Amino acid sequence: MRTVTQAGPLRAAIKGWRNRGLTVGFVPTMGYLHEGHLSLIRRSRAEHDRTVVSIFVNPTQFGPREDLSTYPRDLDRDLALLTRQKTDLLYLPDAGDVYPEGHSTSVSVRGVTESLCGPSRPGHFDGVALVVLKLLNRIAPDTLYLGLKDYQQYRTLERMVRDLDVPVRVVGCPTVREKDGLAMSSRNIRLDAAQRRQAPALRLALLRGRDLVRSGVLSAARLSSEMSRAFRRSAPGGRVEYFEAVGAERLERVVRLSPEEPVCLAGAVRFGRTRLIDNEIVPARRR
Ligand code: PAJ
Repeated sequence: MRTVTQAGPLRAAIKGWRNRGLTVGFVPTMGYLHEGHLSLIRRSRAEHDRTVVSIFVNPTQFGPREDLSTYPRDLDRDLALLTRQKTDLLYLPDAGDVYPEGHSTSVSVRGVTESLCGPSRPGHFDGVALVVLKLLNRIAPDTLYLGLKDYQQYRTLERMVRDLDVPVRVVGCPTVREKDGLAMSSRNIRLDAAQRRQAPALRLALLRGRDLVRSGVLSAARLSSEMSRAFRRSAPGGRVEYFEAVGAERLERVVRLSPEEPVCLAGAVRFGRTRLIDNEIVPARRR
């Protein structure tokens, strides 16, 4: 696997492939790779001639009181995993190359960023949109692979690509989970043994919400309070940041969900300083 750290050699490598008519899939990450990331890489490899992975812990998507400096990192391990996955190219930019002195443009996606994690992480999705747009401009892949685990991020980037005419296909890939249902996340490593035992309560609460939606409950407030209650019951050591039920396409807050549209049930909880998110999409036709 080849690693590049500068935009120049990155463009040259991709141009070489393009001249040979090869297709390119792209998987952006912040590293500390796990099976969730690897599932996106496998999908890209299955659908494209070449796969580019980026590892960049993007400072603009972290708030001032968030975990930028302590975000888990292990580049040697990541390199071994990427080599085993036969990734063609790793783009490993440093912050100065992505955000040179004087950069002053922001990218803001309205609507889909205003519910769920939006209010508790001001500026977060602007930072995600900015860095992914820059990476897309540098790499110009055919397809962008994203995880549905970060459902609001997926919807935000899909919206951005559509609104700004970015010539890329956006593919959302299913959430990869541990055996007990906990969604894989780079941050899971920070949970102590007691927290790790309670962490699947997040998923259980969302499944409780799913059962209620399937049985015809469409009140957003009722779903929110039932999911919070289910979480608290099985995770006394956790704190609820939110549980919400919104329309799955625009993620808009409504009093009553439409029976004709898929529902997105989403939750964010904290165990100590570790914040976990997960979601469950309930299709309309199965209800
Ligand atoms: P990161 O958290 O490293 O995730 C990189 C990609 O892997 C995202 O598309 C995410 O949704 C996906 N992913 C994470 N956990 C997953 C799981 N359990 N199953 C399936 N996919 C999973 O998300 C980011 O980085 C950043 O915000 C980024 C898009 C790279 C922009 O900086």
